[in-house]
Amino acid sequence: RLLKRSVFFSVQDEAVDKSNFKNCNHIAFYRRQKLLHPGKSLYQALLDSVTLCNDSVKLQIINEKNKVPLLVEIYAIEGNIFRLKINEVSPLKSRYEVPDVLIKEPTTQRLSIAQKEAGILVLTCASEDRKLHITANPFQIELESKGETVLSVNTNGLLYFEHLQPKTTAQKKEDTSIGSSQENQEDLGLWQEEFGSFLDIKANGPSSIGLDFSLHGCEHVYGIPEHAETLLLKNTSDDDAYRLFNLDVYGHKIHDKMGIYGSVPFLLAHKPNRTSGIFWLNSSETLVEINTKAHVPSRSPPDITKQRVVPQTDVRWMSESGIIDVFLLMGPNPFDIFKQYAQLTGTQALPPLFSLGYHQCRWNYEDEQDVKTVDAGFDEHDIPYDVIWLDIEHTEGKRYFTWDKKKFQHPKRMQELLTRKKRKLVVIIDPHIKVDPMYTLYSQAKKKGYFVKNRTGQDFEGICWPGSSSYLDFTNPDVREWYADQFAFKSYKGSTDILFVWNDMNEPSVFKAAELTMQRDAVHHGNWEHREVHNLYGFYQQMATAEGLIKRSGGQKRPFVLTRSFFAGSQKYGAVWTGDNVAEWSYLKISIPMLLTISIAGISFCGADVGGFIGDPEPELLVRWYQAGAYQPFFRGHANIESKRREPWLFGDENTRIIREAIRERYTLLPYLYSLFYRAHTTAEPVMRPLWVEFPKEQETFGVEDEYMLGNALLVHPVIEQEATTVNVLLPGSDEVWYDFRRFRRLDYPGTLKIPVTLESIPVFQRGGGVVPLKTTVGRSTEWMTDISYELRVALDSKDFAVGELYLDDGHSFQYLHKKQFLHRKFTFHKNVFSSSCADEIGQYHTKCVVERVLILGVQKQPTSVTVSLHDGKDKEVVFTYDAKSSMLTLEKLLLNVGADWEIHIK
Ligand code: NOJ
Repeated sequence: RLLKRSVFFSVQDEAVDKSNFKNCNHIAFYRRQKLLHPGKSLYQALLDSVTLCNDSVKLQIINEKNKVPLLVEIYAIEGNIFRLKINEVSPLKSRYEVPDVLIKEPTTQRLSIAQKEAGILVLTCASEDRKLHITANPFQIELESKGETVLSVNTNGLLYFEHLQPKTTAQKKEDTSIGSSQENQEDLGLWQEEFGSFLDIKANGPSSIGLDFSLHGCEHVYGIPEHAETLLLKNTSDDDAYRLFNLDVYGHKIHDKMGIYGSVPFLLAHKPNRTSGIFWLNSSETLVEINTKAHVPSRSPPDITKQRVVPQTDVRWMSESGIIDVFLLMGPNPFDIFKQYAQLTGTQALPPLFSLGYHQCRWNYEDEQDVKTVDAGFDEHDIPYDVIWLDIEHTEGKRYFTWDKKKFQHPKRMQELLTRKKRKLVVIIDPHIKVDPMYTLYSQAKKKGYFVKNRTGQDFEGICWPGSSSYLDFTNPDVREWYADQFAFKSYKGSTDILFVWNDMNEPSVFKAAELTMQRDAVHHGNWEHREVHNLYGFYQQMATAEGLIKRSGGQKRPFVLTRSFFAGSQKYGAVWTGDNVAEWSYLKISIPMLLTISIAGISFCGADVGGFIGDPEPELLVRWYQAGAYQPFFRGHANIESKRREPWLFGDENTRIIREAIRERYTLLPYLYSLFYRAHTTAEPVMRPLWVEFPKEQETFGVEDEYMLGNALLVHPVIEQEATTVNVLLPGSDEVWYDFRRFRRLDYPGTLKIPVTLESIPVFQRGGGVVPLKTTVGRSTEWMTDISYELRVALDSKDFAVGELYLDDGHSFQYLHKKQFLHRKFTFHKNVFSSSCADEIGQYHTKCVVERVLILGVQKQPTSVTVSLHDGKDKEVVFTYDAKSSMLTLEKLLLNVGADWEIHIK
């Protein structure tokens, strides 16, 4: 067995076998689009066709070669967004337009024509100072905001649009002779395309689209997850575009642009005075090319000595199918971009509090006894945790919604035990359904016609964990409703209200198929081919699952659903994780940029398997991974079926102690984290954010990816190097003051500091000017901690000021929304008064919980007295201690109700 493991996990074997997957040159629509080179566009705008509608401006453009007209629609959307849609004027049949991702039809603003002459059309948007310059020949659009050209469209002439055509008799003949003499046709893959032994037959023929954008003055672009790549997007070379195509890539390679489990076609561009964004709403396979270069603006003076060279990033998007539907987000600052994107696709669902605790998973916890033992292990070792997870082996032969009769004979009893411990259970539910007429879920779905079909109209069958399987067609709203009903307690036997769900393999994963996924010519609801909806499949499964969990609770409780595959908008349905990573240092390291990228693409609730899924981490790596995970939004330890057991107490007392500390640190931090999630939910601020988001003018932060901000108050620099004795931490901002979060001392000055570390260290720094709410101690799980008092960690900035907040509610229901049962408090330190006030009068929530301790960092001199004045006008002396060396003032035994207004005066 040992031998097998070491053979199985030799370094080469851990990396993915890339020959199972396409590179760009294997992709026919890429090869076709690459025949179009940068230069003068083939498209001309017909300015006579311009019509001004209430919500948009419409005009036609025409391809000078094939003369096929396209309809261009331009919308100005409230909040500094433009939308550009391009479709055929009269397509042979309708082309796919992505439904269900936009949360509502965006509110438009009226555009008016400011100028229309000599081949130029200028549109203005009344309420904001923004303009669109449309050039007729070649067709180009420039977007201007407050006099600055932010972005232009089709500057490289790469607008590409394959109009739908009937299949000619000649082409029909070619289909029967694949692999023979029709070299050219096959190379272009117009009506069919081969990959290895797999054949994709294209019912509608070629339907690819593409467009280029230039981001002026920008050399830093981010986003478009998911790739195991750097935060800062790299220039692509020929044959090496960022691919957005959801795939099951076990042990995905690091520093690679191939598509993995999820796709969010949203790119952010940043320069010191502006952030902008491009949201390409298309769910078919998409490739993105990036090219940053120095550029001499066309309006520069002809005199070469006076010409300014500015950077410019050109971004070219290419999709297999659908229409061009792109949103151009004009910022101007990073938080405006997050809001604009959320205005279109929604914000992060507010997670139930328990799901921010620690999750213990492995493939698999064997049986009820195993669950009981592991659960007890946490108590024995005094380690808090909230959720234990069951992977695919808990089912009867991989039939989801069932339990293995021998190993999980009494699932309810097991859940009752967990309920008594105030803990939860998560079970896996994959989208493939075992072909088995005796399996009710299968026979019902079959009868109702709820499976995806193959091109000849039968239920599609592919291989996955259970063997031969059919796949539910989640794009069909009836299927989603029926699926949601499967979570009702009376349908899902053995489930209770502490059971939550994990959706895996939903790219979807299909073994022994081209690129391990569903063939593109499979057919979905509405007769759409799989190619059109591919990147949406997982999004829809998570949507249906989340709806099911809400429904089973009568609309009362927040769901928790983790998904592997995702798309733009998945944030509305729960959490995502980065899939099958490897127990190696490089995967710990890459988890930070990967999670940052997912976060800025709207999905705040994300994490990576702690410890690394594949292989066996050495103890030091495991410890470091726990420390990193403790400060990441979704915190779950997980391991492969082949990996050795790795519950936190299996690596000796010292490592157990350090892991315990890391997990406990997470639990003390929960008030801060939960408050950040509330902000993500209400105002779309990412929980985990790149440094440049908080320091948009500081160039040195633009490429940083080994540290990040958690909210606006904490800077985290996890140790990700083996045997590290120091870390180099960049503390940005020349006016900023920084403090060591756990040792309280003020760091001398901002800049790059070499900080000594031991195995116990988690380098975290608090930014002066913030207040971080913590719990004073931890409990066995979040639910044990409701009444534990708070500590407020106040860090003064250079003006002796600080502000922060705390959000609080019941942690599990929708009462915060429907009945406004919540507390949103604001804490301010100003002119030596620290006060607690209400941040949102609408919210009411009764709690007995108190603020017990306040630590103020950066107090220059010892106070002579500290008094607290309560709402009733009474003043009380406060016991305090002052440490001159660290300039820290500690106020203890305060017992101030967390929901009350009070002031602490320091003299
Ligand atoms: C693949 C998932 O990525 C992994 O986390 C899981 O353990 C296995 N599938 C088995 O369900």
